[in-house]
Amino acid sequence: MTIGKIIDGKAYAAGLRDTVAEGVTAFAAQAGRKPGLAVVLVGEDPASSVYVRSKGKMTVAVGMESYEFKRPVSIGQDDLLDLIAELNQDDRIDGILVQLPLPDHIDEASVIAAIDPAKDVDGFHVVNAGRLATGQEALVPCTPMGCIMLLKDELGDLSGLEAVVVGRSNIVGKPMAQLLLAESCTVTIAHSRTRDIASIVHRADIVVAAVGRAEMVKGEWIKPGATVIDVGINRVTDTEDGKSRIVGDVATAEALAHVRAITPVPGGVGPMTIAVLLRNTLVAAHARAGLAKPEGL
Ligand code: GUN
Repeated sequence: MTIGKIIDGKAYAAGLRDTVAEGVTAFAAQAGRKPGLAVVLVGEDPASSVYVRSKGKMTVAVGMESYEFKRPVSIGQDDLLDLIAELNQDDRIDGILVQLPLPDHIDEASVIAAIDPAKDVDGFHVVNAGRLATGQEALVPCTPMGCIMLLKDELGDLSGLEAVVVGRSNIVGKPMAQLLLAESCTVTIAHSRTRDIASIVHRADIVVAAVGRAEMVKGEWIKPGATVIDVGINRVTDTEDGKSRIVGDVATAEALAHVRAITPVPGGVGPMTIAVLLRNTLVAAHARAGLAKPEGL
């Protein structure tokens, strides 16, 4: 039995961060300042706090300025919108990321709509979503952008391939489908209401799983030779010692016997997200400074 290749997202992300770091040096020489990324964290959710710390460290590691704005969970929506208005006006800041999820009393859509689309390095603003959907230059959500980079690195030209995206979130599923369409794939979006999902996934040359359900995509669903991108990060406690572990949305061990290549969890898509965030910040900085997009990005 042949075993598929494990795609090393960690190594790819490290290479991308190196390219961004070179771009940051060149930008600083031209613009006379470093690119700046502002991250807004509301509340003290432990997982969000870990992400935000990690983003801050990596921002500094590629030579950018990192600004963190921590606000209590009790902050009112108007105060949060005021903060975003200030960041929109602040010339040192090229990218604004509001860590999601926000507390229930705050309307996420209103907060995202308040971000200047030119600084929307998450690509969540409707202007950027609309630009992506209509084939215009856009800031694109980091996780799906990372997935497309890994796919192109593995497969080269994606034109004409059958792609099935499992999941329809605004953060991953929908922009992923748009990016695959832009690469001339034949794209299907499957989701929780899809009938006979196994046979739909079995058509695919490319499977992107982003549903947030542990090991939902079974090995036998995968067409022999398909390439599988697993976006899931699910914590499960199923071992005798009661310790938890992180698994993806794909049953990786089973799938390995069918795939050409697959991203592992952890170490696949995960490390790409922050690397693309830094890339998007550098791209936004160039656009805001009226400079051409740097080579290789
Ligand atoms: N929470 C989980 N993933 C993300 C992301 O990519 N961006 C933001 N802003 N919040 C998140």
